[in-house]
Amino acid sequence: TKPASKAMPSALTLHRHAKCSTTKARASTLDLPHGSVPLPVFMPVATQASLKGLSYDQLRDTGCMLCLNNTYHLGLKPGQEVLDAVGGAHKLQGWDRNLLTDSGGISGLTRVVMAMQFSDGISLEIGHRYRRRLLTPEHSISLQNSIGSDIIMQLDDVIATTSPDHARIKEAMDRSVRWLDRCIDAHKHPESQNLFCIIQGGLDLELRRQCCAEMVARDTPGIAIGGLSGGEAKEEFCKVVDTCTGLLPEHKPRYVMGVGYPEDIIVAVALGADMFDCVWPTRTARFGNAIVSTGTLNLRNSIYANDHTPIEEGCTCACCRPADQGGLGVTKSYMHHVTAKETVGAHLLTVHNVHYMLNLMGAARQAIIEDQYPAFIRKFFSDIYQGDK
Ligand code: GUN
Ligand code: ZN
Repeated sequence: TKPASKAMPSALTLHRHAKCSTTKARASTLDLPHGSVPLPVFMPVATQASLKGLSYDQLRDTGCMLCLNNTYHLGLKPGQEVLDAVGGAHKLQGWDRNLLTDSGGISGLTRVVMAMQFSDGISLEIGHRYRRRLLTPEHSISLQNSIGSDIIMQLDDVIATTSPDHARIKEAMDRSVRWLDRCIDAHKHPESQNLFCIIQGGLDLELRRQCCAEMVARDTPGIAIGGLSGGEAKEEFCKVVDTCTGLLPEHKPRYVMGVGYPEDIIVAVALGADMFDCVWPTRTARFGNAIVSTGTLNLRNSIYANDHTPIEEGCTCACCRPADQGGLGVTKSYMHHVTAKETVGAHLLTVHNVHYMLNLMGAARQAIIEDQYPAFIRKFFSDIYQGDK
């Protein structure tokens, strides 16, 4: 297929600071309409225009410069009319930093019974209300234009990475390319909102290569690698990311969608990826799990009932930081006490986990700048495996 002929304006600038000499890791700064984002970055997920468990001042305090909303959810509630009336999702949620919206396709996969309508879009049967809606590329972009997010995503056709149906994987890839053209045509604010394409192609490296060529030719301001984080083997995940980054232009940000665990992110950074999002750090906080350098601690475990040390020694989050340093000085014992029943337990752990992820990315970035990334990876994994013992 032929790319659209018009050149797309861009509302971002990527400044490169360093590239690792032995891996493909990059350290850069991404300037977006609502502030500068140090890359590599982890983006917390605030699906419904609220990061579960955090107020926006708490989210701001973690240093977060870019978080996610979902088009599909905001399109249902509060709906496009309210978004237009209030002037977009930044105003709606009182967030003056950057927002990225996913296009809405994938949440259909996970949240509702989904039926594909192949030529027009994704037909979603919404929950138990059985209200039918058709999400087309045009509708997704129109909603994202009303949301006003700094980065908007194309509508894509996502299928399980583990699908054995090669013809279906190819079809989804071709459809995603066609839908990108429709998204480009429908996009009304390219001067203030950056449209990212999404590379599909399952675990088939040849399809991924073809998809990279098609997507890169469309010259969007940024590029995402989709269709991962679906339970594929780590080796397959790495091959796909490595193959794609090898074919992408150096001067554009690369976003690996729905990834993930700290281990996956640290490896994907070495393979040349810049941006990541995942619900896991915030979701697992609500189950009483703290992410620390040795792995994950379940603070509901009674071994913490009488443990008066911070969640993680030396952590500078608002929760772990001692009171005489302006923090809350929360201990594992207190967390154990509140985590099962009290909502404040979820709030505190969400602060800690988001801080952990952002701090990890900051440390990775610093290591890349100092050209010490391989040593950083070795230390990261040795700390985690120590936690397993
Ligand atoms: N989130 C995680 N993976 C994907 C993907 O492939 N496409 C979209 N739109 N969102 C995702
Ligand atoms: Zn902490």
